[in-house]
Order: sequence, then C-alpha cells, then structure tokens
Amino acid sequence: MNISSIKKNDPRLAALVKAEETRQRTGLELIPSENYVSRAVLEALGTVFTNKYSEGYPGKRYYGGQVNTDAVEKIAIGRAKKIFHCDHANVQPYSGAPANLATYFAWMEPGDTIIGMELSHGGHLTHGDPRTAAAKVFNFIRYGIKNIETGEIDYEHLYDLAIKHKPKMILAGFSAYPRELDYKKFVDIAKEVGAVTIADIAHIAGLIAGKALKNPFDAGFHICTSTTHKTLRGPRGGLILSNGIVSNPLKPIDKKIENLPTLIDRSVFPGIQGGPHINVILAKAVAFSEALQPEFRIYASQVVKNAKRLAKKLMEKGFKLVTNGTDNHLLLVDMITSFNVSGGEAEKLYDSLGLTLNKNMIPNDSRKPYDPSGIRLGTPAITTRGMKEKDMDHIAGWMYDGIVHKKDEKYLNVLKEEIIEYCMQFSLPSDNKS
Ligand SMILES: Cc1ncc(COP(=O)(O)O)c(C=O)c1O
Repeated sequence: MNISSIKKNDPRLAALVKAEETRQRTGLELIPSENYVSRAVLEALGTVFTNKYSEGYPGKRYYGGQVNTDAVEKIAIGRAKKIFHCDHANVQPYSGAPANLATYFAWMEPGDTIIGMELSHGGHLTHGDPRTAAAKVFNFIRYGIKNIETGEIDYEHLYDLAIKHKPKMILAGFSAYPRELDYKKFVDIAKEVGAVTIADIAHIAGLIAGKALKNPFDAGFHICTSTTHKTLRGPRGGLILSNGIVSNPLKPIDKKIENLPTLIDRSVFPGIQGGPHINVILAKAVAFSEALQPEFRIYASQVVKNAKRLAKKLMEKGFKLVTNGTDNHLLLVDMITSFNVSGGEAEKLYDSLGLTLNKNMIPNDSRKPYDPSGIRLGTPAITTRGMKEKDMDHIAGWMYDGIVHKKDEKYLNVLKEEIIEYCMQFSLPSDNKS
C-alpha cells in the first residue's frame, strides 16, 4: 500500500508499517483467528468516511450530512443478511467483544443466567471469564466436552444445567474447538426452557458464508454474533445477526414490548457504543461482497481441506491433536504429551522460525494459561495466500524439524531461511490491484 505521506511526515512509524508488512510476507501466519484482507478492504478503511460522525441508524441519525453514510450502512446490512440468510443485521459493533456484550444486554437483565462453553474446552473469554464486565453482571454457567478424544459436547450435561438453572440464553460457539457443533441439539434444549439461542460464530463466519460449515440459523438459532476479521476476511469489527421476531415482555422500551432486532439495535447504540465507524462499515460491505462471490466458496472449502491435511500430517509425525483431528479451520495440539514442550516454549520457538501461532489451554489442562500445554493453529491466512494441501505437508515437516532440532541454532537458522524463501513464492492479497 502507498504510505508515502506517513513516510514523509513520520518516518519512524512508516518504518514500522514496512517492517510489519515484511513480517507478514516472509512468515507463515498460522494463528486461526487471523487473515489477510484484500486491497479493496484496505482501501475502504482509509477513505474519507473516517471523518464522519453518524450516531443512530440509517434514516434516524443524530447528526446531519448522512446521505452517503446511510447508503453505505444499508448496503452492508443487506449483504450481511444475504450471506447468513437472516432477517436482521447490525453492522455497527466495533469488534467481537462488544457484539457479545451488546447481545447479552439486549436480552437479559442483571443477574440473569446464560449457559456457555467452558473456556478451557474452547469457549471465548467473552463467554463468561470472571475478569470480564459481562461476568460481573450476568450469571454464567458452563458446559464442556464429554469425550476429549472425539470432541463430542456433553449435551446431556447441558440439558441438565438448562433444566436446573433456567437460563435466559444458551450460547454455542468457541475460539479453540476443532469440531462442528450440533446446533439442533442446542435449539431443542433451549426450547424446553424458553431460552434464546445465540451462536458466537466469530471464528467460523467465513466458513459458514462459504458453505463449508453449517449455518446455525438453519437449525433455528435466534442470534449469531461474529467478528468480521477472521475467516470472513474483512476489517477488524463485529456483527450481530438475528432471525425471527421474538418479543421479550421482560424488557419493555418506553413501556412497549419490543422484539429482538429492536432490542439488539438499542443495545448496540446507545446501549454500549457511540458513533459507528463508518469507514469500517464500508470495509465490511466490501468484504461481504467478496464473501458472496463464488470464489469465496472455493476459499472456504480449501481452508477446511488444508486444515484436515495439516492435522493428518502432524499426527503422522507424532503431534497429539486434541480430538484427533479437525472439522474446521483450526487445530489444537497437546505439546506436552507430544514432545514434552510447553505451549509457551513452542510458540516462542516457532515464532523464531517465522511460523506464527499461539499457545493455548487444552481441555482439563493442568498448566496455567500463560504457559499452557497446547498450541492453536489454523489455515485461514495461509489459504488466502494460495497454499494448498501439498504446502501443508511442508509446514508439518518444518514444525516437526523445529521441535526435534530445537537446541541446534545452526539448523534452525537454515530452516528459517528455507521458510522465508518458500513464503516469498506467495503474494499477499493487498499486492493485487484488480
Ligand atoms: C469466539 C470469539 N468471540 C469473540 C471474540 C472477540 O473478538 P474481538 O477480539 O474482536 O473483540 C473472539 C476473538 O478472538 C472470539 O474468538
């Protein structure tokens, strides 16, 4: 990207931009929540819409001069609804965490109960970590995995919890779980206790958009929350989708019983946010259009094919994968069982080779979050760069060689050079001007 003005006015910052671009180009981005956006998405982020305030929603703003912002937001909303087959979309959340917080506040009152996935079994911090604002307001109860070898969720336990605690919401979704969820089972349990169902699809939104994974709305879910910057390959941002007009007599607004879409919109603005970032909404609209193209289906299916191949090759080399494989874009590896190397050590070692991934807790981990037993990696970003199954074989090989020769500095330096050379064969999407 052209950063000539930054270069001229602030060379120190320009050098950092350049250095980060080189890091992204010469290494393998294996963090499953990261991706490379298109040049069009990058351009959208830098447009004059960054200058504009537009509190409110299209047609109902608190500032003048909204003729173009209204059009942009309406386009983004229309495209989001088309991708995910639902009847309401709020494209204003600044990111995934505010999207979840706004959704909890949309439907629940302080003290109400929500059931979500155990964090060490793959749930996200925003699903009730005691340090979060949400956990100080709502009562979070947890379900987990029943069989660590297959990854099967303990649906019987979830049912028992629902009967006992009568939650207002049941939350499906994860940031470190490599299997498909049985959404119908969540819906059936929620129906019995009158709970609203919410799926946090932040990690897999792009795979759902590209039809590589199931859409929770097809099973009758009420709400999906998401980020837009992971598999969906858009700008850093959030999204709340809902389907069906469910009213909540316990949450009247101005003494009027309101339904889910209105409650969500009010909860985002003015509930927890101020003015939307319209330049980001423009970039979301660009990314949504890309996700609606036939090529995006090919991308999503290749992400899963690559992850499955990488899982197979790593297991052949002695890496112990949690659930022994993957159905989606991510792999969770038990590094202590595999090579008696902690997740923290492994992250550092791979970082030094240009293989970027992250340490991660594994189910029932006996170690602490800052240096857990596992690592988490995935294929969304490397697939965007055009890598296919045969490239996964190389990656598995490098990961194995790195661990085996972890004390041999000379060997590691040669390996690092080999990885850089390999990466340079694959361009970044932002290089493409078309
Ligand atoms: C499942 C899930 N939900 C929510 C979030 C929060 O998103 P953000 O970091 O954009 O606030 C994440 C981030 O990794 C996530 O994985």
